[in-house]
Amino acid sequence: MYDFDTPAPRAGSGALKWDLRGPAFGNENALPFWVADSDYMSPPEVVEAIRDAASRCVFGYTVPTEEYKNAVRKWVGERHGWDIEPDFIVPSTGIVSELANIVRCFTDPGDKILIQTPVYDPFASVVKTAGRTLVENRLRRDGDLRYTMDFEDLSRDLRSGVRMMILCSPHNPVGRVWTREEVTRVAELCAENGVLLVSDEIHWDLIMPGHVQFTAGNAGTSDNVIVLTAPSKTFNVAGLKCSNGIIPSASLRKRLEAWKEARHIECGNNLGQTACRAAYEYGAKWADEQNEYLWKNAAAVRGFLAENLPEVKAAPLEGTYLMWLDISASGAGSREVCASMNRAGAILNDGFRYGDDGFVRLNIACPRAQLEAGLPLLLSGYRGAAGK
Ligand SMILES: Cc1ncc(COP(=O)(O)O)c(C=O)c1O
Repeated sequence: MYDFDTPAPRAGSGALKWDLRGPAFGNENALPFWVADSDYMSPPEVVEAIRDAASRCVFGYTVPTEEYKNAVRKWVGERHGWDIEPDFIVPSTGIVSELANIVRCFTDPGDKILIQTPVYDPFASVVKTAGRTLVENRLRRDGDLRYTMDFEDLSRDLRSGVRMMILCSPHNPVGRVWTREEVTRVAELCAENGVLLVSDEIHWDLIMPGHVQFTAGNAGTSDNVIVLTAPSKTFNVAGLKCSNGIIPSASLRKRLEAWKEARHIECGNNLGQTACRAAYEYGAKWADEQNEYLWKNAAAVRGFLAENLPEVKAAPLEGTYLMWLDISASGAGSREVCASMNRAGAILNDGFRYGDDGFVRLNIACPRAQLEAGLPLLLSGYRGAAGK
């Protein structure tokens, strides 16, 4: 069994999540449950591979090796049932920056790009900062806080001249793992309407029991699909800046590669690719155990809320390690609730930034003891905001 209980020594290490507690929130002692990375250590196999690379004492320019591409290919095939060629892989140094490249490469100023809100906020900013037109397709929420796509609405929006759709799969922050039927329908609608489907699958390994990730790469319309994925969330290596586009269409791939080359955007970092290769070659068991651990963390949150704060309910967590909590019964907005939680000593993300002010987002990728220490702080912050 791997160890997820020992906290990683992160404070003072340049960790965004920990070291911005004071500057960004004015509470340097608060427990952080915001930025989406993990507070336990990366797999020992990954750490060992980096140590081994460091022992060569050279950190020169990098090209993705065959071994690296084969490790990605094997992972994609074995974990996600998608049989890809090594050539499909277009390495990058982060999904958000690659999204920004893709938006600029494949669309023109003013073009419509569709996202499904509430959603990870950089989706909107990469569209808007490029001067493209944002089309917001709202997800529907049922009484159990489970979100679904409104296909009638989506179909109408996609027919309105949209050039690109950015799918979040699994979905941050609502926690959905889209089913095969849902992903296939999205891909078909995009194909029918000449829309490029860009599927951000950064959370694709973080899947809770009873759910199966269905990659858009398997949805049968490979001419107009770009899948973006990374080892960063799964193996806690986001700071190593290594992500992978998987692009079956040679013409899309060449266009993106040429676009990046013309702008001198280079493809990688040696230690990031070293970590990625080790994670994908040796990390399957660790990833499985992490999912079990996260599932127990989610149960701890649900149990705590049921006992102490039943008016706050969590959306069903199907994937990711981000819980989406309905705080609307407080009568306060999410920014006010988060500010009060922050003063009480727990930093969460407000739902306002994702497009839903009645929710807050709680990152549960931490040792259980840290989560258990944070929940009473969250409770007291909620009560403060609700005036109860
Ligand atoms: C859906 C989604 N995409 C992208 C990212 C960030 O990816 P990167 O750090 O590779 O830019 C996140 C991080 O939380 C995310 O949740």
